[in-house]
Amino acid sequence: MSGHAPVMLGEVLEQLAPRDGGVYLDGTFGGGGYASAILGAAACTLYAIDRDREAIARGAALAARHPGRLRLIEGGFGDMMALLREVGVERLDGVVLDLGVSSFQLDDAARGFSFRADGPLDMRMGQHGPTAADLVNGLPEKELADTLFELGEERRSRAIARAIVAERAVSPIMTTSRLAGIIRAIVPPDRSGIDPATRSFQALRIRVNDELGEIERGLARAAELLGPGGRLVVVAFHSLEDRLVKRFMAEAAGRAPAPSRHDPAGLLGRGAAGWRLLTARPLRPSPAEEHANPRARSARLRAMERLGAEGATA
Ligand SMILES: C[S@@+](CC[C@H](N)C(=O)[O-])C[C@H]1O[C@@H](n2cnc3c(N)ncnc32)[C@H](O)[C@@H]1O
Repeated sequence: MSGHAPVMLGEVLEQLAPRDGGVYLDGTFGGGGYASAILGAAACTLYAIDRDREAIARGAALAARHPGRLRLIEGGFGDMMALLREVGVERLDGVVLDLGVSSFQLDDAARGFSFRADGPLDMRMGQHGPTAADLVNGLPEKELADTLFELGEERRSRAIARAIVAERAVSPIMTTSRLAGIIRAIVPPDRSGIDPATRSFQALRIRVNDELGEIERGLARAAELLGPGGRLVVVAFHSLEDRLVKRFMAEAAGRAPAPSRHDPAGLLGRGAAGWRLLTARPLRPSPAEEHANPRARSARLRAMERLGAEGATA
């Protein structure tokens, strides 16, 4: 597959509602699908962050098509406050995050994200920090098992960790195919048709890139940067990500984490903290999009808006 089909693009634009003269951030530029649509939807300025140098380089063509309106910044969105301050931005009208990896990254065997093609066991979206090979060959067995269990929800985590430790004693595990083979020898395929290596690869990828830490930092910084009427739109692809987004937005909007018997819809706290939820429940892709783009199937979109200075927005 070439390129990256943006997921829930229409829904993202509708929730972000870019306005002429507004200043926006796309914290996960990727293939630039959202960025291109935002720039086309309003005469706004867009800052775009990606920790992948290749994504930033690919964005130059889009920036050239919109002179002075798109500024690309290499870095993690968890550092958006510092990255934007460096270019003189203190306030935003909207932030969008499309979590996870792009098709460009998944499809490039040399990046080491995929168990379908052989490549070096890397999995870093950026250029820094330990690789998946460093973790697989270096973590103590228990920590490896805990990572596979907690970040991959892999029930056979202990057996897999034990096998990895035995194999790495023979020689370091340096390729995606060798790791996938070790996992497949432990976890039998089930009827779902999902490759038995899927969960373990997800766990390693999340840990290598500190994805959950990035989400927590990114959400908090976005909330600080958004001005009155500003909107935060997040597309998540698995339950660990979505849980963080859901909890963050519910707390920001003053909703109790658990519904109260006296206030089943959570209306009492609505907006108490200066935010309102735009999506009471997560939006899901249309059946047509799910059919056309299998990557969209697990997507969940949540959005919230900072209330205006007078406590209400249009
Ligand atoms: C799903 S793709 C985004 C696709 C994009 N919305 C589009 O329409 O083409 C995710 C991108 O976000 C980047 N990314 C993921 N986590 C990041 C983070 N914490 N900071 C910066 N970029 C990140 C990845 O490198 C990848 O390029």
